[in-house]
Amino acid sequence: MIAHRKLLVTGANGFVAGSILAQAGDYWQLHALSRGASLAPRKNLRWQVCDSLSAAPLTRLFHEIKPEVVIHTAALADIDFCQANPAAAREVNIELTRTLANLCADSGGKLVFCSTDTIFDGERAPYKEADVPGPVNLYAETKVAAEQIVSALGTRAVIARLALVVGLPVLGAGNSFLARMIASFKDGRTVGVPAHEIRTPVDVITAGRALLELAAGDHHGIFHLAGSERLNRFEMAQRIARRFGFSEKLVTAQPPATTPGRAPRPRDVSLANAKACATLQTPMRTFDDALSLILETAANPAT
Ligand SMILES: NC(=O)c1ccc[n+]([C@@H]2O[C@H](COP(=O)([O-])OP(=O)(O)OC[C@H]3O[C@@H](n4cnc5c(N)ncnc54)[C@H](OP(=O)(O)O)[C@@H]3O)[C@@H](O)[C@H]2O)c1
Repeated sequence: MIAHRKLLVTGANGFVAGSILAQAGDYWQLHALSRGASLAPRKNLRWQVCDSLSAAPLTRLFHEIKPEVVIHTAALADIDFCQANPAAAREVNIELTRTLANLCADSGGKLVFCSTDTIFDGERAPYKEADVPGPVNLYAETKVAAEQIVSALGTRAVIARLALVVGLPVLGAGNSFLARMIASFKDGRTVGVPAHEIRTPVDVITAGRALLELAAGDHHGIFHLAGSERLNRFEMAQRIARRFGFSEKLVTAQPPATTPGRAPRPRDVSLANAKACATLQTPMRTFDDALSLILETAANPAT
């Protein structure tokens, strides 16, 4: 198939973006937007460096590329960093999203925005798409504000709320807690995890596939991209240890708020994935199936 539709992926060296870029295939003419050079160069991928993602340079680049669809993954996604650096968090997570939304509004393009399970307060899980957000930290506040901006695009907006994303980097690098956990296990170091936090983890391969499907189809509105199992993070880490061949004893349960400087986290932000299961061809997986897919992909890395 000849590449025909132009897709722009922001935050291209990030964790989720790497999965999107690796799996996009020939259906798309792929443009990757990053502040730096590609960590994993590939043919059929036009890498666009924009060291400042402020409005003027981004607008120039957008007008050159003229994307039909943008998948916007770029964000300051470190919750504790955002809490300590609110101005920077607002600048990236809200203002950059506003610029892209305005550009899509003017061009008639579609915007697929990556939001998060942590927009919810954690006290009334599982959450459906129509449930009301209740952010408990600054990162979540910025994502709620960005969702509101994106939703003004109406039928040209998709808000994909990702649950905790688990996986090894497919291309590029980024924010993979699994990679850090495995590195600790390999060194024989224990990993402390907050046992009281409950999540519905989604693997990075599935998240990338689902985002591409949402970009390609005429989907619009909010979608919860989440796995089919609710797990506390202690159980999750133990299952990871077992599956990767390490001792469960390397996982320790951390009581709430023992780490200085840790921003508040919602307790249980399990997402109901019924809409994604009913609408998308990409299957949402159990945690064991997700780990299987991660291991298969690591054994057959993207070329
Ligand atoms: N990972 C998860 O568990 C999770 C869960 C829920 C929601 N999400 C959301 O999913 C999206 C992708 O997350 P991720 O895990 O892939 O994050 P990530 O690995 O940290 O990647 C985010 C990318 O954003 C870009 N970025 C970072 N700081 C920036 C800045 N100051 N200005 C402009 N761009 C900047 C960087 O791309 P370049 O280096 O290429 O510029 C970075 O690699 C984010 O919107 C995040 O909020 C993630």
